[in-house]
Amino acid sequence: MRYTDAVLTEALRKSSTAPFELCHRTLETVTLGSYQIPQDTIVMGNLFGIHHDPRVWGESAEAFDPERFLIPSGSPLPSVKDTIPFGTGKRSCPGETFARATLFLFLVLTLQGLTIKCDIGGERPNMDHEVGGIIAAPKKHKLIFVPRQ
Ligand code: HEM
Repeated sequence: MRYTDAVLTEALRKSSTAPFELCHRTLETVTLGSYQIPQDTIVMGNLFGIHHDPRVWGESAEAFDPERFLIPSGSPLPSVKDTIPFGTGKRSCPGETFARATLFLFLVLTLQGLTIKCDIGGERPNMDHEVGGIIAAPKKHKLIFVPRQ
């Protein structure tokens, strides 16, 4: 259960399915770190950038490594709280709970019922994305799904 959660968190971080938040507008002038953002500016959070920042995730930022989320609590290393695949604040994704539950059930039921193999060539899937529109999608892969006995 803990490892499954870590796999899903890492999939949401690495894929950053929604690479950007929706457009927001500053209602007043805002100071953010060393930046001053004037009133009425359109702002979009760069979720992909947050999830791939080597200053946070280190040299393994581009790797798919669920074990990064299995660290003991209180560790200074980045953790689940550093991932915001559904955005943050009052206008964060209202579908988050539904999406997380669906992803969990889909993954667990698929792996319980099926063995997944790479295509006959044996090449491992390329983990890069296709980015088209506002959603990042995986590249096309040929996989073989075999029912478990
Ligand atoms: C893996 C699945 C999903 C991801 C990664 C995702 C991510 C996001 C993100 C990043 C935003 C923008 C938040 C912001 O601008 O601060 C958003 C907004 C939104 N999402 Fe999702 N979402 C997912 C699934 C869903 C589902 C299943 C639903 C509905 C059943 C949904 C409905 C919405 C709506 C209505 C908004 C606009 C909220 C607003 O502007 O107040 N999303 N989502």
